[in-house]
Amino acid sequence: MSKDYSDLEKEDLIKIIEKLESRKKYGLIWDEEKTKEKFEKESENALPVLKEVKSKEIKTDPSKPTNILIEGDNYHALSVLNYTHQGKIDVIYIDPPYNTGNKTWKYNNQYVEKDDAYKHSKWLSFMLKRLCLSKNLLSMNGIILLTIDDHELFNVGILMDEVFGEQNKLGVICIVNKADGRSDDEFIATAHEYMLVYSKNKKMAKINEINLDADQLGKTYPLSDEVSNYKLKPLMSQGVDSLRKDRPKMFFPIYYSLEKNSLSLKQEDSKFVEILPVDPKGIERRWGSGYTRVDELISLGELVAKESKEGKYTIHRKVRLKPTTKTKSFWNDPKHNAAAHGTKLLQAILGKNRAFDYPKSLYAVIDSIAITSKKDSVILDFFAGSGTTGHAVMKLNDQDGGSRQYILCTNNENNICLDVCIPRLTNVISGYTMAGRTIVGLKNNLKYFKTAFVKNSISRDDLKMRITRECTEMLCLREGIFDEVKAKPDYSIFEQNGRVMAIYYSIEQDGLADLKKELDKMIGEKILYCFTFDPLGLDKNDFVDWQGVSLEPIPQKILDIYEQIYDY
Ligand SMILES: C[S@@+](CC[C@H](N)C(=O)[O-])C[C@H]1O[C@@H](n2cnc3c(N)ncnc32)[C@H](O)[C@@H]1O
Repeated sequence: MSKDYSDLEKEDLIKIIEKLESRKKYGLIWDEEKTKEKFEKESENALPVLKEVKSKEIKTDPSKPTNILIEGDNYHALSVLNYTHQGKIDVIYIDPPYNTGNKTWKYNNQYVEKDDAYKHSKWLSFMLKRLCLSKNLLSMNGIILLTIDDHELFNVGILMDEVFGEQNKLGVICIVNKADGRSDDEFIATAHEYMLVYSKNKKMAKINEINLDADQLGKTYPLSDEVSNYKLKPLMSQGVDSLRKDRPKMFFPIYYSLEKNSLSLKQEDSKFVEILPVDPKGIERRWGSGYTRVDELISLGELVAKESKEGKYTIHRKVRLKPTTKTKSFWNDPKHNAAAHGTKLLQAILGKNRAFDYPKSLYAVIDSIAITSKKDSVILDFFAGSGTTGHAVMKLNDQDGGSRQYILCTNNENNICLDVCIPRLTNVISGYTMAGRTIVGLKNNLKYFKTAFVKNSISRDDLKMRITRECTEMLCLREGIFDEVKAKPDYSIFEQNGRVMAIYYSIEQDGLADLKKELDKMIGEKILYCFTFDPLGLDKNDFVDWQGVSLEPIPQKILDIYEQIYDY
């Protein structure tokens, strides 16, 4: 029954109208979760930082970038990255839980079951929080790829439109990952999944064209001559408006010389066959090109005559493989099969069965990154699972000489990080055997961090001092400088690839002179992160003789970012 508004005061009516006006007109509406997510409880009254697990570090080729694995809830990892990598990520590839109800996704430590009335609301709340944090990380020409199946396809499509903007949608790719279909589906056997492709800003986005691989090429363009691979296509037009009467000038004979095995528009031989665009039913059609163009195609050797079983001749045009081809919205390539190139591959790398149920095909991820990245891109996957994205980045770099860097984040649900992701990346870097064959290691560097927390305190100054003492790893990650060369109580110095970073932690200024002497001895681009209580930053007058050193105050900028993400 509709409400009776006749007794309401004008002010109350205005309030109601304003509320109605401000209501969402179109889009997703769901029940916001009242209970806090587990990650929210962990970071209640605390702020996330990173702590390195040094024993897991791998360094086999210092000339290559340092790749990163962060263990923890991705909400915390993304918060940290909002300070270290805002606007610096070129490609985000994510394969979030699909919310199938098959005990594959835990929300607040409990599997979300098929019959949970709030299953979509929970999933959407969970995804929205993470997608919003990840958007800040994308560079101006950055691209996000999100894989999904039909359990959440319609919801996540609208969510992505809302977060990244419908105007920034680049497309949806359908990837066949099980060509024979899932036999356990009730009505329709699913053979594919989707990949939604959005950009930070469509005007600046670019999708690379990728070459078909050799197998595909052989199937699609099976013939070849001295020019290139090609396939044959009838020259006779096939459409409804392709009759002789529609374009009479495009109906003319082409002569095929049986002696010379050549075509001509004139009768040059006594032994020739006259070929007309007449279909097997005797209907007079027309050629696909006009007289002059056909003449040109004949002299270029682009037309051939083919004899059918019935002894009839038809004319065909060579359709040539272009060197590259625009990425299609439908990928049907056997190497994208998830069982063979995901599950089985992972088994071989780890030497054990069923380590993880749903890894992606390595090649589906390689192709996804190949179409969206440059050779020096930074690639982030914050639902990393078994680490396929890290493997794919290293393999793609190996194939094309790239220096892409990856940052992976995963929780440790069912020990996925410790028992699967790290061992996989380690074995890919050092080498493994597959079906008796030795797969050579893809030498690389990896650092492993865990999220940790700095407790908030009533005193702002106290919080500032404590977060400064705990933010070293975050600063190393922000600068990409990890090799510690000096560690003193008041400061540390790091160096990598000709760049130097110093961190000064103390409120007392006494140690600065000593630090300056150390920095003066070093060569290369230098940056100093220096503690200050002052929210406005450092007093430049205190650093006039620090030539060649750029200055960054800490920790105010970290706190400014966390203030937008956390209530503290
Ligand atoms: C569908 S799997 C990704 C699989 C991955 N693409 C691969 O090929 O191995 C999703 C992964 O995200 C992880 N995950 C789920 N919720 C997470 C969260 N809040 N923070 C971090 N990781 C999470 C799960 O542990 C799971 O391993």
